[in-house]
Amino acid sequence: MSILIKNGNIVTASENFIGDIFIEGETISAIGKNLNYEADEVIEASGKLIFPGGIDPHVHLDMPFMGTFSSDSYETGTRAALFGGTTMVIDFILQTQGKSLRSALEEWKGRSDGNAVGDYSFHMAVTDYNENTKPEIREMIEEEGITSFKTFMAYKGALMVDDRQMVGLMEEVKQHGGLINVHATNGDMIDYLVQKNRNEGNRAPIYHYLSQPEVTEAEASERFVDMTNFTGCPGYIVHLTCEGALNAVRNATRRNQHVFVETCIQYLILDASLYEQDFEGAKWVMSPPLREKKDQETLWAGINQGLVNVVATDHCPFFWEQKLMGIDDFSKIPNGHPAVENRMELLYSEGVDKGRITLSKFVEVACTNPAKIFGMYPKKGTISIGSDADLVIFDPNEKHTISAKTHHMNVDYSGYEGWEVTGKVKTVLLRGKVAIDNNECLIPKGYGQFIKRSKVSDKI
Ligand code: URP
Ligand code: ZN
Ligand code: ZN
Ligand code: ZN
Repeated sequence: MSILIKNGNIVTASENFIGDIFIEGETISAIGKNLNYEADEVIEASGKLIFPGGIDPHVHLDMPFMGTFSSDSYETGTRAALFGGTTMVIDFILQTQGKSLRSALEEWKGRSDGNAVGDYSFHMAVTDYNENTKPEIREMIEEEGITSFKTFMAYKGALMVDDRQMVGLMEEVKQHGGLINVHATNGDMIDYLVQKNRNEGNRAPIYHYLSQPEVTEAEASERFVDMTNFTGCPGYIVHLTCEGALNAVRNATRRNQHVFVETCIQYLILDASLYEQDFEGAKWVMSPPLREKKDQETLWAGINQGLVNVVATDHCPFFWEQKLMGIDDFSKIPNGHPAVENRMELLYSEGVDKGRITLSKFVEVACTNPAKIFGMYPKKGTISIGSDADLVIFDPNEKHTISAKTHHMNVDYSGYEGWEVTGKVKTVLLRGKVAIDNNECLIPKGYGQFIKRSKVSDKI
């Protein structure tokens, strides 16, 4: 099967030009002007932008969490991602404390195998690092192609590791060519503030926000940065939200240390005023919580300064019924919100269309850097000869309105209901197949593949 895409405005992290793309099988085989190849299918793309498929390296699909499961399965979550121009996601496996990494991997394979529509990979969350898990690090990297290891400095009692485990894990991961990702907030401080608020009868969603002030994130980020400097392990801070935390990374650049930073679309465009409305605020109960306008400014600037490398979502949807588990107690509201389908369009609309970032920066943080950082480049994350033909044909002018009534995520509300977006995903190709066209998904569940990843470093 061959496809010729004609006259599109091809955008990569470094270039932007009008041209044609010729696809044979699953990969791109030619790029140029006026390509005269015979093709089984020709797609006319004049007036459209063509991006590499988006990569969202932070999603939670079908994840057991806070007494329930996140509501998107591999099928619904990866399909919704495709509708929004994201052709690949990286999900998080959670080790159960006291059990092996291998058994967690088997559990996640049980839910993902044969069910994904779009491509995917896993980060391995190490929640219990000890002499038994130590040899599994090499196994995951060398045998499974899982080269990133997530740690939680919060969620005390279930997922949190202490600094002793963190440093040991970093040494092991570094030795075998992997990378550490971190949820960097101070779990003990948060635990104290949560209990204090509960004891004082402060039970509304806003107390979720007030129990995780900026200092809890800034302190943990700085500690993590120092530990990665000490061990030499490549580090990546997930869902960074605020000025204080970014300053920890900025300060480290003075000693020529580089720690990768991910923020998420919600932290760029939503703020904590959303918590000032009774239980409705539960829609945005996530960790870390939404911050202030000044933090949004810091994050946009951080993208342009090269300090913020990735814009992800932390997609972790729950039905309203599930959110109601915390109606009497903010600490029981399942943490997370749905966004995997909205990320590319919101980032384009709020970032490129509003003049905050360039087109190439958009591609860099939404497609290329995730592929480079997590060991998939140039198979994924760019438009080049030999790369997977994962492509998004995008109308930069079409306006539409986000709504739970029309989204494809398996959740009954949207955190962006009524948001007006400029720019629309029109056609999406995944490994040479037209996956989305005319608001329809044309590939079945099971088409999505697990992507094994290579070893990584702290340079991209
Ligand atoms: O609120 C969030 N972020 N839920 C998902 C788990 C995590 O911390 O990323
Ligand atoms: Zn080892
Ligand atoms: Zn987290
Ligand atoms: Zn997360």
